[in-house]
Amino acid sequence: MCGIVAYVGYRQAFPVLLKGLKRLEYRGYDSSGIAIVHKNIEIHKKKGKVAELENMVKGKILNSLIGIGHTRWATHGEPNDTNAHPHLSKSGRIAMIHNGIIENYASLKQELLSKGYVFKSETDTEVLLNFIDDILDNNNCSLEEAVCVALKRVVGAYVIVLLDEENPDTLIAARKGSPLVIGIGKGEHFLASDASPIIEYTKEVVYINDYELAIIKSDELILKNLGNEKITPFVQQLDLELSAIEKGGYDHFMLKEIYEQPKTIYDCLRGRLDIAHEDIIMGGVQSHIEQLKNANRLIIIACGTSWHAGLIAEYIIEELCRIPVEVEYASEFRYRNPIINKGDVIFAVSQSGETADTLVAIERAKEQGAMIFGIINVVGSSISRVSHAGTYTHAGPEIGVASTKAFTAQLVVLTMIALKIAKEKQSISHGRFVELLHELNTVPSKVEKILSDISSIKAIAAKTSNANSFLYLGRGYNFPVALEGALKLKEISYIHAEGYPAAEMKHGPIALVDENLPVLFVATKDAYHEKVISNMQEINARKGRLIAVVTAGDQSVISLTKDLIQVPAADEIIAPILNIIPLQLLSYYIGVSRGLDVDRPRNLAKSVTVE
Ligand code: F6R
Repeated sequence: MCGIVAYVGYRQAFPVLLKGLKRLEYRGYDSSGIAIVHKNIEIHKKKGKVAELENMVKGKILNSLIGIGHTRWATHGEPNDTNAHPHLSKSGRIAMIHNGIIENYASLKQELLSKGYVFKSETDTEVLLNFIDDILDNNNCSLEEAVCVALKRVVGAYVIVLLDEENPDTLIAARKGSPLVIGIGKGEHFLASDASPIIEYTKEVVYINDYELAIIKSDELILKNLGNEKITPFVQQLDLELSAIEKGGYDHFMLKEIYEQPKTIYDCLRGRLDIAHEDIIMGGVQSHIEQLKNANRLIIIACGTSWHAGLIAEYIIEELCRIPVEVEYASEFRYRNPIINKGDVIFAVSQSGETADTLVAIERAKEQGAMIFGIINVVGSSISRVSHAGTYTHAGPEIGVASTKAFTAQLVVLTMIALKIAKEKQSISHGRFVELLHELNTVPSKVEKILSDISSIKAIAAKTSNANSFLYLGRGYNFPVALEGALKLKEISYIHAEGYPAAEMKHGPIALVDENLPVLFVATKDAYHEKVISNMQEINARKGRLIAVVTAGDQSVISLTKDLIQVPAADEIIAPILNIIPLQLLSYYIGVSRGLDVDRPRNLAKSVTVE
């Protein structure tokens, strides 16, 4: 977790860094800080959101053309001013920011304690910094050399950026396992965890690879490996507009991203859904089609919301392709001893492409010879680079911490992949294939229809915002939708919510039902519809507060509850993409009515780059 940003050039660094931190705040907001060099290194840092730091420095003269900034999601040490980054070395010569975890920090700390080092913070970052400082102190070497020596001893993940009082025109950065991108300007350079702080200054970027070190001045970028060999930077052009990372008139990024879904889904389908030729065009799938269609088993690895997308994909792929599918939490998969056989294919699903557990799980599967197919949103991210093949979801930057548009884009891409494999494998009839292509084509306009009238959702949000707990129920394709709806509510409103298969309710959760418990059914028309209606009646009989997402015009549900949210009719395979939209909105409006910061829910961060 954590966001890092750095600048060297001709502009005043502090405002550039502050703005950059605001863009990266989705990565963590426990504390933030900036170091600049004005004769000496000056560090300003504060517990809380970036706005707190901004208030603290109001009226101060912050003159410097170089600096480093950090927004923290706490791992080692509680969120407070002392544990906030940047940290200053014992000698006072170097300031450093860090994203990642130094796993062997305890032994390094012990070494330094025995040499008389005293630590101010509880962080692993201060340990690594003073380890570098100690090497510098005891050897007649440059900071760059000291960093290389230190990093060879480090176990864990990191991006670090160092500011050196003795060379106040140079930044030194290195990465392993956490993201770092460098923006190349004219007479200036920008460093950040992702491109969002850079995009308004330059579109030319270099993505730094693991075990690479960058030595950066305003007009020079030198890349080396830890063996001191120079590497030619590979400059890429960013395909991103500034408007994509701004709120564009919405109160929150989350709301903006929910409302963007007709467009993001359209973008996801564009160029791939070929209705005229009754085909799906996906280069990454086509080039590995033999392996995919002949797979003995597909294993979907993901976390959180992406895992829920994987669960829906399991139902779809097994139905259409007749290939067995397993869906694994990356955090479990990486530590057990999973059986991977020849002919198994791994689908790694991730919005950020940086989730540490997913990344390591992929490495484990790769070691056992599996083919890795990435389904990723962030272009150039770590998972996209370690996958053998894959496809992007094209949802654009997702800033709101709760995933919304990335989820629907994942569902669209996974459905298209399933259709393509099924077509090639001939496990689907031509008629059904074409029918589903047409269904997919109508999704953007159906989502637009849902978003055009959200009065029932707002009314239900107003009625239920004081609830202590919620139950979300669904069957078949709608069961993972219930799980995702419950996750959204927990994240955004801090109301306890549980997702469950509707039929399983009688095996336990029904004991929770009373007149205070909102029970939300995802009950659109599908093969299970009559069964779900029976489950709803069971709740009514126990006086639960029934809410239901239903197909527009469905008469069978009208007598069951007044709290209905209608969505357009859709094939059951496609329906989850529509059914989740009201649940995203419901949690958003409940969160807002409880006065919560829905874009930055407590304790969370957007990409979980620590295990
Ligand atoms: C929930 C949410 C998280 C992520 C999870 C995986 O709203 O955003 O549960 O889905 O951390 O992240 P990615 O998809 O980036 O691997």
